[in-house]
Amino acid sequence: MILGLETSCDETAAALVTEDGEIRANVVASQSELHAQYGGVVPEVASRRHLELVSPVVREALGEAGATLGDVERVAVTQGPGLIGALLVGLAAAKGIAWGRGLPLVAVDHLHGHVASLYLRPDPVEPPFLCLLASGGHTLLLDVQDHAGFRVLGTTLDDAAGEAFDKGARLLGLGYPGGAAIDRLAREGDADAFDFPVARVPGLDFSFSGVKTALLYAVRDLPADELEERRADLAASYQRAIVRALVERAHEAAAQLDAGQIAIVGGVAANSELRAALPEARPAPLELCTDNAAMIASAARYLDDAADPLRLDAYAVA
Ligand code: KG4
Ligand code: ZN
Repeated sequence: MILGLETSCDETAAALVTEDGEIRANVVASQSELHAQYGGVVPEVASRRHLELVSPVVREALGEAGATLGDVERVAVTQGPGLIGALLVGLAAAKGIAWGRGLPLVAVDHLHGHVASLYLRPDPVEPPFLCLLASGGHTLLLDVQDHAGFRVLGTTLDDAAGEAFDKGARLLGLGYPGGAAIDRLAREGDADAFDFPVARVPGLDFSFSGVKTALLYAVRDLPADELEERRADLAASYQRAIVRALVERAHEAAAQLDAGQIAIVGGVAANSELRAALPEARPAPLELCTDNAAMIASAARYLDDAADPLRLDAYAVA
């Protein structure tokens, strides 16, 4: 079995995955409640919490799998991108376990991990495919030709789609993180009530800063009592604009690539409107959309062991 560790943002996660892609345990300790009071992730607070949680989370994963460290054959860990202090906690823990048990260590790119959430059983997606990766930190269109990696076709020029959801939720008073809250509230609203355009930028890139500003103005211009009444309409219209931008660009990229398959991964892939708007696409399983360690262990199946594991360093930016 592969033991995976993920600590790039505000989830402390450990998982056990077999070499053929079966999940034996997948434990995620979310810190979102801890950060909610600040309206977003505070990096230093996240690092300290990872430090407290990483050992219990590994122990819980082993317990869930009915395994011990003696059953682990390789250790996989997120090396980047993410919050540097947060990443270092996972990396140090993984180095310690690998060194202590004499096991190989595999360094995994977080984005590759999101893509590899598609390769797990019981229903793995096989490359080649076009992948839309939409999370709190990234919005990417990827050409995936094999399990070991991907080629970037387009990215966001400003905010990530999940960041746009989170900032929109904050403007609507829905708390942090807000993607799932907007998703829920939007079901009660009219998506045609407000016209929130999304900027069209050249190529296969994205831009979400304009739609966020449009929501800011709409909220500012509504009297307080009306705002309460129209909150669901605002959420639905805002979500519609983001989803439209993602779907349009995914279709354009698929056409350009002549891709036979589209897949969607990352936290925003949990969005019900996005999943419905791309009925032909293969979405990652719901529980594997947001950050987890099963996807990190999954990616490790296609990667070489680190040659000099104790010298591995984390990277903040891809
Ligand atoms: O992949 P992820 O867990 O972390 C990063 O790698 O960034 O993604 C988290 C993001 C957050 O911005 C969150 O608001 C968003 O995914 N998210 C959603 C939904 N569930 C989570 N966005 C829209 N609709 C959802 N249902
Ligand atoms: Zn992520």
